[in-house]
Amino acid sequence: MRALTIGVLAVGAVVLAGCGGGGGQISNTDPAVKKLVAELGPAYAGADVVAGRAKFEQCRACHTIAKDGPNMTGPNLQGVFGKVAGTNKPGYAYSAALKASGITWDAAAIDKWITSPRDDVHGTKMSFPGMPDPTDRRDVIAYVKVASSGGPN
Ligand code: HEC
Repeated sequence: MRALTIGVLAVGAVVLAGCGGGGGQISNTDPAVKKLVAELGPAYAGADVVAGRAKFEQCRACHTIAKDGPNMTGPNLQGVFGKVAGTNKPGYAYSAALKASGITWDAAAIDKWITSPRDDVHGTKMSFPGMPDPTDRRDVIAYVKVASSGGPN
């Protein structure tokens, strides 16, 4: 009986670790992940957050995304979805161009932004050349949605 109890506890711990508490490994089958990705609408139904996490390594050169992560060359991205550009991290020195852009960060806006930041907002200081592949952008945006909304990252 004791062994059984320990076994059940261990399974419970594994399930909790995968449940989006913030520290768990991100997974496409995690219900919390699925719920956040579904909020992006049907265009993101096939998105792969595990692939998106790998592709986000390019962004991590300049951005943290975990809650309370530091600003680096770019601002920490936690909470960015739904925010007006240049307002999410008041302690970060955004460019005047980004602050004047009036963009609200939904999936479509981030898609346009990471396709070519400098074409999207002339004068931005995000010196990332762009992510040309639409599937890469779809996966990265799904990952950013999950990881920036308190989900696993
Ligand atoms: C070379 C550094 C660099 C890389 C790489 C980079 N960024 Fe940025 N990012 C920045 C900087 C700098 C800003 C602030 C731009 C400004 O103020 O004009 C920014 C701003 C942003 C913003 C707006 C944040 C806000 O609070 O309004 C988003 C969203 C964003 N980046 C997403 C990404 C994603 C996704 C990637 C990867 C595909 C990426 N960035 C790659 C440097 C970078």
